[in-house]
Amino acid sequence: MTCPRSLFWLSNAKQPSRILRQPWLAAVLLFVSLSHASVMAQQRLLPLDKVQSGLAFTGPEILELQADDFANPALPYMDKGAKLWSQGAGKEGQSCQSCHGELEAGMKGVAARYPAIDAPSGKLFNLEDRIRQCRVKKQKAPDWPLESDELLAISLYVTSASNGMPVKANIEGKAKAHFENGQKIFTTRQGQMNLSCTQCHDQRYGIKLYTDRLSQGQPNAYPAYRIEWQRLASLERRLRFCYNGVRAEVPPWGHGVMRDISLYLMWRAQGLNIEVPSVRK
Ligand code: HEC
Ligand code: HEC
Repeated sequence: MTCPRSLFWLSNAKQPSRILRQPWLAAVLLFVSLSHASVMAQQRLLPLDKVQSGLAFTGPEILELQADDFANPALPYMDKGAKLWSQGAGKEGQSCQSCHGELEAGMKGVAARYPAIDAPSGKLFNLEDRIRQCRVKKQKAPDWPLESDELLAISLYVTSASNGMPVKANIEGKAKAHFENGQKIFTTRQGQMNLSCTQCHDQRYGIKLYTDRLSQGQPNAYPAYRIEWQRLASLERRLRFCYNGVRAEVPPWGHGVMRDISLYLMWRAQGLNIEVPSVRK
């Protein structure tokens, strides 16, 4: 994705001006888009039996690195996360562990069902949002900003308690509108490249882009260590990179849109298990 120019072949932009000069065509398109909206509720563009983790597309070096208990570059973050989990902080010197107990006891399966609605505020929280809220409100300790090493490390550590467990997405109730918005974004062309997520990740996964194979854009391995960035990165950071790749305006950090897309991605990833600590190129 370093040279998006050569991605133009993926995009076959429609020419809106020509369409508008042919009213019947505009009417057909309107009909198609309206009927599309009515079946919008939950549309599986990638059939369940085709769902594959990003690991399946990474190649032998990454597979080896990820499986290596010493060389996996995400492991130092796991150690840091474990320290943060048990370290007292804040006014009362409490740690995550003082309230939640051992990681496995307190956090098993939790990461597999985020993003989720935070009942008091009614907002859709991803795991990082939830941890930050606990850090500030319950532990009464200084906030960990998005993408800080601390937040990524604790988030990876918490996620590791769900390793091997199937991803779940609750898209009912208040979450429904978020899911639908995420689905809409996923299927809408955007940016100067005029490409949608679905064109790359549902329709063209498996093809070679430069040296790498395009994956299905699955969220189950995040936060992941990205070799190109030489650090651990959140799913949000990865999504921002895809926005950049199609030359679309990137929403501000922490924006609800990214949570909506993540919820859609988790729904779409059903059938996959959480896989951390993971490595990506
Ligand atoms: C003073 C006690 C306390 C401390 C300290 C604390 N938490 Fe929590 N945490 C809670 C309570 C209570 C909840 C239940 C939901 C709520 O009220 O927000 C919770 C909820 C959570 C959840 C969501 C669980 C779910 O089932 O969805 C996560 C994740 C979490 N905490 C992580 C952490 C982490 C990581 C730390 C340390 C940085 C931490 N918490 C520190 C009390 C605490
Ligand atoms: C031009 C093609 C293209 C478009 C459009 C695109 N991506 Fe990607 N995406 C990539 C490439 C290339 C990668 C890195 C290699 C891989 O995992 O496929 C990637 C990686 C990802 C990953 C990480 C997968 C993993 O296993 O590490 C996610 C999640 C993702 N994209 C989601 C999205 C979403 C959501 C959108 C729409 C907002 C989007 N992508 C749009 C090309 C694209």
